[in-house]
Amino acid sequence: MRGNSTPNETSVSATIAQYLVEHSPTFKELTNLRQKGWKTAEGDRYFENRRAQSDNADRKQAQRFFNMTCQIGEEMDRKTSVITFAATDRGLSPRVLDIGMAPGGFTETVLRKHCDATIRGITLPLENGGLKVMLPRWKADPRVIVEFLDVTMLADEMGRPTTSIPTVHPDIANFSSNRPFQGENFDLVFCGATAQRAHVRADYRESQERLRLATSQLVVALQRLRDHGSLVLVMHKPEALYTAEIIRTFTRFSNVRLFKPRKKHAVRSSFYMVATSVDMQSKETQSAILGWKKQWENATFQSDDALSASSRVSEDRVCEMLAEFGLQLIKLATPVWRTQADGLRSAPFLKE
Ligand SMILES: C[S@@+](CC[C@H](N)C(=O)[O-])C[C@H]1O[C@@H](n2cnc3c(N)ncnc32)[C@H](O)[C@@H]1O
Repeated sequence: MRGNSTPNETSVSATIAQYLVEHSPTFKELTNLRQKGWKTAEGDRYFENRRAQSDNADRKQAQRFFNMTCQIGEEMDRKTSVITFAATDRGLSPRVLDIGMAPGGFTETVLRKHCDATIRGITLPLENGGLKVMLPRWKADPRVIVEFLDVTMLADEMGRPTTSIPTVHPDIANFSSNRPFQGENFDLVFCGATAQRAHVRADYRESQERLRLATSQLVVALQRLRDHGSLVLVMHKPEALYTAEIIRTFTRFSNVRLFKPRKKHAVRSSFYMVATSVDMQSKETQSAILGWKKQWENATFQSDDALSASSRVSEDRVCEMLAEFGLQLIKLATPVWRTQADGLRSAPFLKE
């Protein structure tokens, strides 16, 4: 989760990778392809170009990105029906919370499937480096309300009231006691916020942003999801310990599938966890929320050194995770690894 891996993280990743290479031919093939890709200068150039394109915020580019997220939303629904069946068990029109909403492709997909849906969005303000909402005529649409804010700064939501934060904290002016859409309940929550390069952040956040984004989105989502509702979370690398642990946690109180778009982003390691029928009454759900609040608090208030000491992972914990969950992880993650391997095999920088 951090910019530069600590020796402990490197050894944890190696233990997991070794287990997966031994038990999953798909992961083994993907590892070989990734290694080949790292060795080519064309691979570096390819990813650098893609990053430059996605940083270029001109209108044409924004429209292209919006079209792409619409296509991903469509493909996700075709493969999982998470949008189509969002509220069928209640016979009502679906209520959807879209975190990291802009440009708005997932919302567009929801409205295309359910013209009577209610949409609430949360997304980073443009002036902080966020993306523009490209959903046509959304400002005049009574079905759609968007709050522009940084979801990782909602201190009261995360159980750490703004009034308790030391005044010397580098972000003291940016924490918020706002609790967006508090008291509303949703059938489906998208947790799609990903760190933006244009987002100017305090230095302490650089190594922690992915963790802070995941934990704050999960807490906001689960404090508003109705019982047996669905949640979609954007993630990276099912084989990373932190990712595998979130997936494992969700398997305890929901039905989990992993989805990776075939055409878009195939060469990257990102994918979506789609959790349906989330049991909001279970003790595991409530204790998971507390755990993510604690992780957010540590990542936000501890120094990097203190954090790397307190988050040291023992070999025993990794072995326990693999013994208990390794084979299930392989079953869930194989389609994601296969899609990435297919994408890499036909990537311009790896073609013979
Ligand atoms: C990959 S885009 C999401 C695409 C979106 N799911 C769609 O369907 O169009 C990531 C979004 O997360 C937003 N974001 C990034 N950091 C954020 C933060 N800290 N708080 C709120 N939104 C954030 C970005 O501005 C961007 O709009």
